[in-house]
Amino acid sequence: MVEFKKLSECIEKKQEIFIDRLRRAVEIPSVSAEAGHRNDVFRMIDWTQKELEKLGATCEQIQNGKQEMPDGTILDLPPVLFATLGQDKSKKTLCIYGHLDVQPAALCDGWDSDPFKLTERDGKLYGRGSTDDKGPVMAWINAIETLQEMKVDIPINIKFVLEGMEESGSVGLDDILIKHKDSFLSDVEFTCISDSYWLGKSKPCLAYGLRGLCYYCVEISVCQQDLHSGVFGGTVHEGMADLCWLMSQLIDAEGTIKIDGIHEQVAPVTAEEIELYKKIDFDIDDYRNDLKAHKLVTDDKVKILMNRWRFPSLSIHGIEGAFAGPGAKTVIPAKVVGKFSLRIVPDMTPKAVDKCVIDYLNKLWAQRKSPNQFKVYPTKGSKPWLADYKNPHYQAGAKAIKTVFGTEPDYICEGGSIPVTLTFQELTQKNVMLLPIGACDDMAHSQNEKINITNYMDGTKVLAVYLMELGNCSS
Ligand code: BES
Ligand code: MN
Ligand code: MN
Repeated sequence: MVEFKKLSECIEKKQEIFIDRLRRAVEIPSVSAEAGHRNDVFRMIDWTQKELEKLGATCEQIQNGKQEMPDGTILDLPPVLFATLGQDKSKKTLCIYGHLDVQPAALCDGWDSDPFKLTERDGKLYGRGSTDDKGPVMAWINAIETLQEMKVDIPINIKFVLEGMEESGSVGLDDILIKHKDSFLSDVEFTCISDSYWLGKSKPCLAYGLRGLCYYCVEISVCQQDLHSGVFGGTVHEGMADLCWLMSQLIDAEGTIKIDGIHEQVAPVTAEEIELYKKIDFDIDDYRNDLKAHKLVTDDKVKILMNRWRFPSLSIHGIEGAFAGPGAKTVIPAKVVGKFSLRIVPDMTPKAVDKCVIDYLNKLWAQRKSPNQFKVYPTKGSKPWLADYKNPHYQAGAKAIKTVFGTEPDYICEGGSIPVTLTFQELTQKNVMLLPIGACDDMAHSQNEKINITNYMDGTKVLAVYLMELGNCSS
């Protein structure tokens, strides 16, 4: 096997090239949620295909049909990029998944620099997608490029599945993968995903669990158009008042979910799990300070970690149609759509959760006795995922981390969701591992998203060593 010191030096020497690669990726504003940027998602996929072709990969864009937006407009879905690198029958095949789309971002949201211009400050690379998930995808490319330049024989075949709709629920991806179960996916032995984060800022992790997501829209319509509150206030039943009341009934002041039938679905916590959580390196004060939160719901480490990973949570996200700008607009909105979601854990399923949520909201609406029009609709939910972290695949990941950082990783779960993870596990019937490279304070989805240069570079090393380790892995 290639000597780590040499590999490490080769990677270090290429730092400028690697940062430049990420810069070009971040420059394409591939926001999947915004119709106006859909074309950029297509461009991002084409651009990445060219990068993979330079490595000698055979690429194919799998067409993905159309998407109907809530307002009725029809958009083309970006294709899913399949790439194959190596087809040696004597080698095992690794599948790498990543996403090329990003969350929306604008300078006026409070960024300190243009979100689509990768900007270096204090050893950190700021830009939308820098950590979620363009940085990690580029790190895979960096790792393979380096091994090739060193003329190292990569001991496995590699397949990439890269999509452009992850941040919008991975629309169409499951269907495409199901169709390719017996072709593209048939020889996959392991799947690895680098699309999550370390639990802290210095200790690397491997993750074996994700929560699922169920997302809801509650629509209340009053009349045809917005009304002057001075002229019409006091004469109509206000939709905002109905909606705020409904949404206020979802959780109590402690954040406990009030929807009937939810808690009963959660798998009981075992004594073994509690022991596992106790061992995890996690500083509660650091966590609170990073968030600059006034107070956490509890100061108990195990409880906080379980609230993030092991129990469901409900978040209220926003209200479409409500006045949200600065200043005082005196208007009665004609139609408002409240948005909230639940993160779900084993043994909850989107189907059972949807039923509880819809029944509960209907019950509340009947109590409210409002004459307004009320509709609640779920968007496609995703299931939680759990993997066997005792599988040799995880040991290959752990060895790579040990080689680069000289320390064993923490084995963690994640509170976020990557809808396709379970699909890979179910279709291939093989082990799936999350191998994060970014730090806990990277602020994915938020203002000033970043990846540390050290994380990007060491991450590239970990991924390269992991590819080499897989040669000795008998999962
Ligand atoms: N990279 C995240 C998933 C993630 C978040 C992993 C936090 C670990 C911790 C992914 O890009 C993401 O944002 N997923 C969405 C999925 C949703 C749109 C279905 C999420 O979790 O909100
Ligand atoms: Mn992501
Ligand atoms: Mn994301």
